[in-house]
This record gives sequence, C-alpha cells and structure tokens, in this order.
Amino acid sequence: MPRRAAPAPPPHDLDPARARAFGHRLRAWFRRHGRDLPWRRTRDPYRILVSELMLQQTQVVRVVDYYARFLDRFPTLRHVAEARPDEVTDAWAGLGYYARARNLHALARHVTADGGPGAIPADPAALRALPGVGAYTAGAVASFAYERRAALVDTNVARVLQRAFAPELDPKRPRDLTRLWRMAEALVPRTGAAAWTQNQALMELGALVCTARVARCGACPVRGVCATYARGAAGGAPLPVERRAAPRARAPRPR
Ligand code: ADE
Repeated sequence: MPRRAAPAPPPHDLDPARARAFGHRLRAWFRRHGRDLPWRRTRDPYRILVSELMLQQTQVVRVVDYYARFLDRFPTLRHVAEARPDEVTDAWAGLGYYARARNLHALARHVTADGGPGAIPADPAALRALPGVGAYTAGAVASFAYERRAALVDTNVARVLQRAFAPELDPKRPRDLTRLWRMAEALVPRTGAAAWTQNQALMELGALVCTARVARCGACPVRGVCATYARGAAGGAPLPVERRAAPRARAPRPR
C-alpha cells in the first residue's frame, strides 16, 4: 500500500484582537527593555548572518566578544570566500560547533562563485537554499537584515508562543512545531519595521522573561493576554513562576 503523507496540521486559530494586543505590548516592551546588542545596530546581511550562526548554540554574552573579533578578521563575505576553510574555523575557535564556520565558508564561496556579486538573498526561500541555512536562520536574515515580513521560530520563540497562545501544544513534537510556525506567520505585523521589532522582541522575551527554567510573569508585558498565565490565575500552576521583576539589561554585558 502506498504510504500517505501525514495530513498537514490545521492552522492555529488566533483571535485577531488578542494577537494585536500581544504584538503592541510586546513591541512597546522591547523598545524600553530590549538589550542594545551589536547585531541590532546593523542591517548588513553578512553581519546579521554571522550573528545568527554564532547565536545558534552559544549564549549572547559569549557571542558579543567573538563577533567583534571575527568581523575584524573577516569584514565582508568576500573576505570569508577568499580565505581557506581552516582560516575561518580558526577565527571561530572558542565558539565550538565548527560546522557553523564551515557552512559560512561554503555559503560565502557559493554566493561569490563565478564572479557573482556576493549578495546574500533577501527572500526566505532563496536563503534556505544556501549551505547551513535552515528555516529559522532564513527568517532571521530576511527580517533582521532586510526588514522583510518574515516569521522566525527558534526554541525561545516556540516556548513563548506555546505558553501565550497554545498551552496544549508541545514544541518538541514536529507537528506542534509546525503549528507554532503557522502561528508566528499569522502574528507577523503589517510592516517590515514592526516585524523586525516584534521578532527581536519575541526572542528577547524568551531570553529574559519567559525562560525555559522560570516564567517571570511579574515582568511580562503580555501576561494579560497569555493563556498559560490565565490558567495559573484560574488556580492551576502550570509553570515555575517567579514574580520578581526581570533583570533590566540595556547594554551588552561582556564577561
Ligand atoms: N539569538 C538569536 N538571534 C538573536 C538576536 N537577534 N538577539 C538575541 N538573541 C538572539
């Protein structure tokens, strides 16, 4: 018998008023509390790509130092393409997960092959065709470098959306993760600039407030529209909650 593909999960129903309130409050919070990180001060696609590759497995505070040093050594994608692979992995030394550096080198050679302009594409589908670029990184480069209206979901964003809108989902299940992606797409605001802010804000909320270990609901700008918080208020105790205010981190804090 031919195997049938699993049916696509249904789109997630988002109440439009709630989705709008979530976006407004989240973006306003980020403007006040978001950290001033070096990759948030640039729209250079190469610099954004490097930051996103570094941040995939490494904490922000560690990346800040390595990022500046790496960009001093390789200021453009063409510098990466013209280097030997081991020169790029050497500059990555200390960050680990060297596949990321090898992928960056392969990507640089790919987009500069045959005398190409060395441009990193803006379209998420074109980005995904590049070595080492998955759905998250494609969304991040499209949104953070080009201010495209692109969604992105990493583990932090998946957790925030699951807790806020769909406590019944489990982001570790592929089918549920697909639904969280659909939800993220439905939440993308109307302008690219607002999408940039909202995507950074989703990541920031997941990193500082709605963390895996503890939900600092007392400091959360969207608790009024959060399904998990409402469950807790109704008597359930679905999360390890800390009501102390979240740390206010406005600047990079290199160690
Ligand atoms: N992790 C991945 N991308 C990030 C970003 N733009 N800011 C902070 N942490 C991140």
